[in-house]
Amino acid sequence: MALMRVVDRDGVEHEVEARTGLKVMENLRELDYGVAAICGGMCSCATCHVYVDPEWQSRLPEMMSDERELLSELTHYQQNSRLSCQVEFTPELAGLRLRIAPDE
Ligand code: FES
Repeated sequence: MALMRVVDRDGVEHEVEARTGLKVMENLRELDYGVAAICGGMCSCATCHVYVDPEWQSRLPEMMSDERELLSELTHYQQNSRLSCQVEFTPELAGLRLRIAPDE
């Protein structure tokens, strides 16, 4: 377990004890204010879209092309967008801060 800081769609920040070794999405979908993750992590729905705090962006694994392509099609895409199903929550990411993106 490690700390994850999650800002919900109302702008409220929550400190969450998240499970390492799971995808960030798998932690977020357990939360009432988290993500829907409709496709279950297949990189096809984008309902796990989050904005990663700039200070953490470079510490996340590089995007694969399918994540990049799906994100680029989103209305709410930003430079710090990620699909949380494509990011494993490792112990090195303890303290990770992110914001849940608006529904498309
Ligand atoms: S859960 Fe569907 S793209 Fe991430």
